[in-house]
Amino acid sequence: MNVFETMESNVRSYCRSFPDVFVKAKGSRIYADSGRAFLDFFAGAGALNYGHNNDFIKKKIVAYLESDGMSHGLDMHTSAKEVFLNRFSELILKPRNLSYKVQFCGPTGTNAVEAALKLARRVKGRTGIFSFMGAFHGMSLGSLAATSNLYHRGAAGTDLDRVHFMPFPQGFMKSFDTIQYLEEVLTDGHSGIEKPAAIIFETLQAEGGINEAPIEWMKQLRDLCNRHDILLICDEVQVGCGRTGPFFSFERADIVPDIVVLSKSISGYGLPMSIVLMKPELDIWNPGEHTGTFRGNQLAFVGATAALEYGDSINLEADVYRKGEFVRQFLTKEIVPISQSISIRGMGLIWGIDVSASKHDFSKEIAARCYELGLILERVGRDDKVIKLMPPLTISLEELEEGCAIVKQAVQECFEKYEASEYLLA
Ligand SMILES: Cc1ncc(COP(=O)(O)O)c(C=O)c1O
Repeated sequence: MNVFETMESNVRSYCRSFPDVFVKAKGSRIYADSGRAFLDFFAGAGALNYGHNNDFIKKKIVAYLESDGMSHGLDMHTSAKEVFLNRFSELILKPRNLSYKVQFCGPTGTNAVEAALKLARRVKGRTGIFSFMGAFHGMSLGSLAATSNLYHRGAAGTDLDRVHFMPFPQGFMKSFDTIQYLEEVLTDGHSGIEKPAAIIFETLQAEGGINEAPIEWMKQLRDLCNRHDILLICDEVQVGCGRTGPFFSFERADIVPDIVVLSKSISGYGLPMSIVLMKPELDIWNPGEHTGTFRGNQLAFVGATAALEYGDSINLEADVYRKGEFVRQFLTKEIVPISQSISIRGMGLIWGIDVSASKHDFSKEIAARCYELGLILERVGRDDKVIKLMPPLTISLEELEEGCAIVKQAVQECFEKYEASEYLLA
């Protein structure tokens, strides 16, 4: 038994699918102590959009460290934070005509979701929140209450209340008008559900199974929130920072959420950082009301500034569209024809191969085979039956082709092993 098995809690999870000991990583590849190299279609669950040890970002972080810059600063004014705020404003907010105030939260996505929910409840003086079936917002109690996965909820050990789950337009009955349902819930005096302070949503549910919200639906959701005086919180933790193309994934619907939550790739280097963006009039916090020792990871600020500059300098958005189109075509031409029970979904550089229509548990086998063949990827969605393709945005086209070829081999082998017809649902 290794030290991980003898000492580390049973709660560990990704290491069970990727059981090597990893020692090094560069760009889109990570290396195990055995000397094996793996292509990375996992990207730190979305924290490594700019790849591993991105040279441009690394140089800035190393220079900052060597200059003995502040390494820890709570929420004090530091030059690293000042530069980040200025660059974030210049490169992200102003060009999009967005006016948000920035709250630095504890280091992870769930901390920012907690802050956003707390703020929304304070602002509206209501306790209820609407979330969606298939949603993933984090594992601490407030965010877990807004997360739909019953396995994760079951681990809470206490009640998770004040959140109602509404049907999401994908992953639910296609013919169902989810906006009309929300409207009914909010207007029917006998719906049994009080008006919430906020509706929290993902423009594309990543952990939920690559479920994409249609543009028109998002516009209607924004309109519904306006009409009913409800705050709209967009959780950009996984699909923000350029994952779907534009910096914010909600840009594709041309809407402006009241509150936005960002984490994962915002630091550019896999360093912990999370922020809440709020419309200025919502900033009703009193000093120190929501605090934490690790708000404002200084190295993450340096990485985040460098990442924004890097993304801007290489026109990352256009690059993501190009590579996303390659993946779309590959999946359409090479993967979908393998079996009638396969469907694909996605955009930008987040894609899902859904094998849930098959009776056999192909997804686990496919992911395991990919790993054997040298590719790391994750499974998401109901019963983990969607294979998620999420490489660093900076991956080269050659590496993308190489990874996709491995996916094809794995999918093909797994489906060929069984008589497809035997396993298809009637
Ligand atoms: C959409 C979304 N929100 C929130 C979180 C929670 O972030 P963290 O794991 O950093 O707490 C995640 C994590 O995967 C996520 O995908």
